[in-house]
Amino acid sequence: MTDNIRVVRLTQDYQFKSFDCGNQDLNDFLLSDSKPYLKKLLSVTYILETDDDIVAYFSVSNDKISVPDSDKATWRKIKALFPHSKHRSDYPAVKIGRLAVNSKYRDNGIGSDILNFVKDLFISGNRTGCSFVTVDALREAIPFYLKNDFRYLDKTTADADTDTCLMYYDLTKLVD
Ligand SMILES: CC(C)(COP(=O)(O)OP(=O)(O)OC[C@H]1O[C@@H](n2cnc3c(N)ncnc32)[C@H](O)[C@@H]1OP(=O)(O)O)[C@@H](O)C(=O)NCCC(=O)NCCS
Repeated sequence: MTDNIRVVRLTQDYQFKSFDCGNQDLNDFLLSDSKPYLKKLLSVTYILETDDDIVAYFSVSNDKISVPDSDKATWRKIKALFPHSKHRSDYPAVKIGRLAVNSKYRDNGIGSDILNFVKDLFISGNRTGCSFVTVDALREAIPFYLKNDFRYLDKTTADADTDTCLMYYDLTKLVD
């Protein structure tokens, strides 16, 4: 089922194929917003496709993690990743603004493959420094991100009454 999937970077003349991830906001972003966002340099969208379907997509933008995003213990852990002379009040990151897998293709490891692809994209041949991947994870997707080694940036928000929760992945451990 996951054979013959290719990754393409969205362009203004990309012809959308059929896609439904079960979340209307995420479906709408792809069809209505991803091209305007690309045009204004707000995000870049990558599409996994076959000849017939869009299998999945994700959008990424520059981001940073900073002291106010984090609880104290987590920030201490983050600072400890860097030598003392490199301690700062924020660190560069890439945000996964949107990520969705077509319902037809769920639970085949595609979402995890995408996270690994993003991790690789920003440690090899990257054009800017980027130490972390961040995501405002939808509550229902938190187990998926935890399984992929993402962690809460502010543990006090783990059980908060919000639709999303900010999580991060440490890219520095892949290059040490
Ligand atoms: C979350 C999502 C991207 C995962 O994609 P996927 O290709 O199915 O992911 P994988 O096959 O790599 O991993 C699936 C794992 O994540 C878990 N998972 C995924 N969605 C989950 C959910 N809604 N609730 C609980 N667990 C979930 C699965 O239980 C599975 O765990 P297992 O391997 O231990 O059984 C996909 O379910 C999706 O597009 N959901 C709708 C949109 C969404 O929530 N996007 C995230 C926005 S932050």
